[in-house]
Amino acid sequence: MTTQTESQRVEAAVAYLQQRLSAARCQQIGLAMVLGSGLKGFAAELHDSVSVPFAEIPGWPTPKVEGHGGALVVGRVDRTVVACLTGRVHLYEGWSPACVTRAVRTLRLLGVSQFLLTNAAGGIGEDLSAGDLMVLTDHLNLTGQSPLIGPHEALFGPRFPDQSKLYDPQLRSLLLACGSGLQQGVYAGLLGPSYETPSEVRMLKVLGADAVGMSTVHEAIALNAMGARICGLSLISNLAAGIGEQPLNHQEVMEEGRKASVMLTALVAEFCRRLA
Ligand code: HPA
Repeated sequence: MTTQTESQRVEAAVAYLQQRLSAARCQQIGLAMVLGSGLKGFAAELHDSVSVPFAEIPGWPTPKVEGHGGALVVGRVDRTVVACLTGRVHLYEGWSPACVTRAVRTLRLLGVSQFLLTNAAGGIGEDLSAGDLMVLTDHLNLTGQSPLIGPHEALFGPRFPDQSKLYDPQLRSLLLACGSGLQQGVYAGLLGPSYETPSEVRMLKVLGADAVGMSTVHEAIALNAMGARICGLSLISNLAAGIGEQPLNHQEVMEEGRKASVMLTALVAEFCRRLA
């Protein structure tokens, strides 16, 4: 039995989606979004949408974490065709960085050049409160892993990609102009699945982190290497451990996601309108 390379797996998914959605429809996608914990409801806002379950796309892993959906939904916000991944898989579930990034790499190879990565995160920065939306200026990949480790596959970009503007400054300005009261800051991506200790949160603060979560960084690394323009948005679902008084739990993270969905929907809809 021959084992497939990651490039071959992604190419198989690309070929499937070109058939299923039509190559012409794929070419029209102006923005792809990854919807983080509790944020999957945004996909319901898309008009004339088509939904493809991840389980039907060759090689795509399926999310199991509560609050994460498992479909690719393609539809319109005004004139912009948007592709939403209603959930994602994480390293802490045991998936490899290649699996975690397979869906976004597929979309990139389908021709999508702009991505909005969303997540739920714990707030570390002094000005952050639960319910805030924070636009990512940069990230700290503290997972000790990367989707680029392993034999070099040219399909996924250069061996040593530059990351000095990982989050596209123009997309960031556009997103900031689409809402009021938006925060900005650095996202620290950790392995999880346990939340941090208060000492770890103090360390993250010293390192320059404004928010902490368990996703996003590998998707951003993989997409940047493939020449995509990326924008990141964190919903601050809680104050990080030791900053707030409350013990942390996933129900609270999802509840904040639901509460924020009205705000997020309005923000992203405006973002799509201005992208067109
Ligand atoms: N830490 C890590 N991940 C998270 C948090 C947090 O406080 N909140 C939501 N995701």
